Amino acid sequence: MTKGKYYLTTPIYYVNAAPHIGHAYTSIAAEAIARIKRLEGYEVVLTTGTDEHGTKVERAARAQGKSPTEFVGVISNEFRAQWEKLDLKLDRFQRTTSPNHAKMVNTLFDACRQNGYIYKGTYTGLYAVVSESFVTDAKPGDIDPETGKPYEQLTEDNYFFKLSEFTDRLLEFYDANPEFIQPEVRRNEVLAFVRQGLADLSITRTSIKWGIPVEADPAHVFYVWFDALTAYVTAVEGEHWWPADLHLIGKEIVRFHAVYWPAFLMAAGWELPRHVFAHGWLLFENDKMSKSRGNIVRPSPIVDVMGVDALRYFLLREIVFGQDGSFSFDALVGRYNSDLANGLGNLASRTLTMIDRKSTRLNSSHIT
Ligand code: ME8
Ligand code: MG
Repeated sequence: MTKGKYYLTTPIYYVNAAPHIGHAYTSIAAEAIARIKRLEGYEVVLTTGTDEHGTKVERAARAQGKSPTEFVGVISNEFRAQWEKLDLKLDRFQRTTSPNHAKMVNTLFDACRQNGYIYKGTYTGLYAVVSESFVTDAKPGDIDPETGKPYEQLTEDNYFFKLSEFTDRLLEFYDANPEFIQPEVRRNEVLAFVRQGLADLSITRTSIKWGIPVEADPAHVFYVWFDALTAYVTAVEGEHWWPADLHLIGKEIVRFHAVYWPAFLMAAGWELPRHVFAHGWLLFENDKMSKSRGNIVRPSPIVDVMGVDALRYFLLREIVFGQDGSFSFDALVGRYNSDLANGLGNLASRTLTMIDRKSTRLNSSHIT
């Protein structure tokens, strides 16, 4: 007898560079939750994948002299290989460049549009390339902390999503579902943001080519977040797994998951996910490890030296789930020696020796 279904997801990672230990942290944690749920008797599906459209990816491809298609294929495979090397059982790997996904994104858009939540307008704003979003609280000339350069100004004809109509509905939803956003600190952040009132959101671009075309108006491609979030549905298309029980993510993408995503789904009349859990950051020398900053640690060499389980243990033991934590090689080696070798290793070895000694005595007493 199964206890029912449990569908959880990791973010679908950007393919602008190869996976690092921050991505591994989320995937390892998600897979540990999947294991626990299976032990508890649930039927579990865990989805991961790669987010392959948008300016950042297009630029990264160009910087390597590759076509976007060729480039995303290479990096997406690196993610897949990384998860295999970490021995993670991931049930679905959704790429946003797959044809069925393009269809699903258009289906979601059409449903929102039919229900009256989409209109066409013009937008001028400052655009943050790294987070693929317009920044509403910056002035021209302000420096984008992610790139160290001024924000780029962008004017375009866009389709807009009437996010402004969801302020109250979202607040009611959070109220009725106090565990929707976890931990508490992230929930409070989201509540404060939504309470200010939401502005409509531009969800298509004409300035970008590398994206999913809007079937109804092919001069437009979808904004990368409208595209990416929908991958959680595409991954289990036609299988009755949706809605997700849990989206496990890092804290920097809470707004997309806990505000935009439920609003898109409400607009379309689709079911909402049950939980969004945002964990903290893995810091390296007190800075967020990130591809754009270039201060990254790769999981592979650690796995080669210590094995997958040591890395898994370290990440889950060292960092308080939900809070930021520091990664350091000293802490890794320390945990390995003190917890695994001296603590658990010793306990196991003494226990086995004792069992062996006792059973030898029992056996010999039987013989005599
Ligand atoms: O945001 N510490 O992709 P991304 C902890 N494509 N977790 C980290 C981390 C760190 N230093 N660095 C990365 C995107 N992560 C979008 C998501 S979902 C529809 C689209 C983990 O490649 C963490 O889970 O930037 C974070 O949210 C995610 O990787 C961001 O990966
Ligand atoms: Mg990121």
